[in-house]
Amino acid sequence: MSVKSLIVGHGGRESSLGWSMAKSSQLYAFMAHLNPTLVGLVRSSGGEYTLGDVSNPKAVVSFAQEMQVEMVMVSSDDPLAAGVVDALVQAGVPTVGPTREGAEIEWNKFFSRKIVDEIAPYANPTYKTASTIGELETAVSYFGTQPIVIKPAGLSGGKGVKVVGVHLRDNKEAFDYGADIITSGRLGGAVIVEERINGPEFTIQAMTDGKTIVFPPPTYDYPYRFDGDTGPGTGGMGSFNFPDMLPFVPPNLYTQACEIVQKVVDYLSIHQRRFSGCINAGFFATNQTDLRVIEFNARFGDPECMNIMTLFQGNWTDVMAQMINGKLALGDVPLRNDASVVIYLVTPDYALRPSEPVEFLLDVGMAEDIGCHVWFSAAQSVQSEQPGGSFGRYRTVGTSRAVAFAVNAADITTARNMVVTAIEASVKGPLEWRKDIADPRYVSNLQNGQFVP
Ligand code: GLY
Repeated sequence: MSVKSLIVGHGGRESSLGWSMAKSSQLYAFMAHLNPTLVGLVRSSGGEYTLGDVSNPKAVVSFAQEMQVEMVMVSSDDPLAAGVVDALVQAGVPTVGPTREGAEIEWNKFFSRKIVDEIAPYANPTYKTASTIGELETAVSYFGTQPIVIKPAGLSGGKGVKVVGVHLRDNKEAFDYGADIITSGRLGGAVIVEERINGPEFTIQAMTDGKTIVFPPPTYDYPYRFDGDTGPGTGGMGSFNFPDMLPFVPPNLYTQACEIVQKVVDYLSIHQRRFSGCINAGFFATNQTDLRVIEFNARFGDPECMNIMTLFQGNWTDVMAQMINGKLALGDVPLRNDASVVIYLVTPDYALRPSEPVEFLLDVGMAEDIGCHVWFSAAQSVQSEQPGGSFGRYRTVGTSRAVAFAVNAADITTARNMVVTAIEASVKGPLEWRKDIADPRYVSNLQNGQFVP
């Protein structure tokens, strides 16, 4: 009888983790809506699912105990900040994911900047913290006319960071945005004011048991809503990796970035902040010569997790067991040396205004025949695909991204062509996606130093 594993969450990231877990276990799922990918994997692997608030520690523990699951994966920001891992560990349920104290590197941006000040001060941008309007006035005036960035201190689902020259006209507008966060108490009720950094970004999905870290190749994420890096910030419209290294990231900066992540993990361990799972660490390669830390997430990136899961060619529940037992070895996470591309499809309203639910048709089988994974996020099935092949009918749920297409291939052009072909052939309806994800012209712009901060 195979092991029982539980995934907590319902995004594209959880769909891809669930897909890996279901290959070697009976998959159980605790989610807020009927994610079609997870429902399908649970049914085909012989597990069960329940619907509930993924940030309610008691409810998650109760389902895990009732189902007698043997291992749990939590890799989503809100449940981590809510202490879901703490509750599972206290109840004796073996779990991958940091405790609330370990996850503070994500839910408290003051804390993460302080760690970088201690372990790698050169990699912090110039920054000031502000919890009151007076502190905000001092912080903004410190930068004079130099363009700044306002970052909420708390969680914002990737939508809270605003950059002067991109989202905000000038530092006065930046002040107003920061003042709104402080006075409303939203998004942590405090902000960091930072110098605006220029340079291509990259992220590292560092997988760890709290000591040993497996570093995969870096990924590139598309945080802006529209082509050409315009529009508001999002949770991520898509992502890619090249075999070995992104062509616009100098290898020595990648090495430095890995060293910083190792120091963060060591810091958390020394301070007894339990951490296992993944640190999604974001960096700028400034002017191609220097490294700056953007932020740390205490979990896999979404969509970047899907890049890693397309490359992964081992047994994910074995990896989870090694992470739980503190025995992760460098060879435990074998990855294909391929490129991979992920593209998210979203509602026309996504990141602009509260999304009205929209319906769309999708032929998952057709996309899979082209070689793509289809990993649902904020969508539910209205009418399944019929045997013999046909489009299923789906409806979006809430305000997040709807569904992701992901693939790995020997090179980035092949991978991108497969995803684009699959989306064009198998989706009908109003969903939107960025056409410049992994486009060779976009990549060569990054190589030539053309990027939006
Ligand atoms: N893709 C960015 C994030 O997961 O927060």
